Amino acid sequence: MLRAGLLYLSEQPAVFKFVRGNPIAKRLASRFVAGETLDSAVAAVRELNARGITTSLDLLGESVHTEAEAGQAADVAIQMLERIAREKLDSNISVKLTQLGLDIGRPVCVANTRRLLERAAALGTFVRIDMESSEYTERTLALVEELHAAFPPHLGVVIQSYLYRSDADVERLIGLGTRVRLCKGAYKEPASVAHPDKADVDASFARLMERLLERGNYPGIATHDEKLITRARRFVGQRGIARDRFEFQMLYGVRRDLQDALVREGYRLRVYVPFGTQWYPYLMRRLAERPANIAFILGNVVREGVRR
Ligand code: FDA
Repeated sequence: MLRAGLLYLSEQPAVFKFVRGNPIAKRLASRFVAGETLDSAVAAVRELNARGITTSLDLLGESVHTEAEAGQAADVAIQMLERIAREKLDSNISVKLTQLGLDIGRPVCVANTRRLLERAAALGTFVRIDMESSEYTERTLALVEELHAAFPPHLGVVIQSYLYRSDADVERLIGLGTRVRLCKGAYKEPASVAHPDKADVDASFARLMERLLERGNYPGIATHDEKLITRARRFVGQRGIARDRFEFQMLYGVRRDLQDALVREGYRLRVYVPFGTQWYPYLMRRLAERPANIAFILGNVVREGVRR
């Protein structure tokens, strides 16, 4: 119920306008977002790299409404790739196709994505296409399929285990040889397209994870769920799958203890580092995953306020 309410609020731009200047909301966001500027995100990446953790930088922002805005989003993503290369950071980037113009028209989005991938290929790096709500799943996968042939090692996508269709999509991507990040899925979806019960989402994740570990191309196992992480570790141990054939992935600010433990044990770990002024929908999805975060972070804000 609370999850549904938070996900509903995540889609209300009027609420964001209201909270954008609010210092408590900004403090809440700073737990999960590495600041509003690229400079602040780069500082976070440096800190993570120093802990032996690789990253994926993400400029927050969802659907844009004009061709010019979509072009600007592609320009910023290219600047991110160039900054990563110039400063020799251990990072790739993640983008959303609606930022690159998917809602405006497919040709605009294809042109922007192609321009971005050409730069990524020239710099020898990698772009991950995040997965958005189910209304975009097929269009996202079709576009990735179209561009995969031209940029095979530079392009990857995301599969959400809560969708019924994901079994077939994982086979489709294994067939292509595309790199997949597997996550549970963060959007509010109807029972007609997604498992309503968490136990089924987790079972689907376990099944897809094992298929990807066995037959996929360098999968990203994106979860903070310790049961699933233990299962992955056991599976690769039993099958003799080398630790450089996959990576675990987690979100900035979530389960830092587990992040460090995995690195200490010699597993590869990538942290998703979001930044930018459009942090509101992202923050609301993180709070929806674990409403206890609201109390936890507000408690910290109050304690720090008292100390000051
Ligand atoms: P689950 O929600 O079951 O949580 C398991 C445990 O992890 C919790 O008990 C808690 O301990 C901890 N935890 C989880 N979320 C937490 C939080 N917000 N704060 C504190 N603790 C938390 N989704 C999507 O739809 N499209 C995408 O492209 C991506 N991309 C992406 C990249 C990466 C690197 C990650 C890690 C995740 C995503 N996601 C995503 C989000 C994903 O779908 C999912 O919503 C979250 O990862 C939470 O699910 P868990 O697998 O962690 O399990």
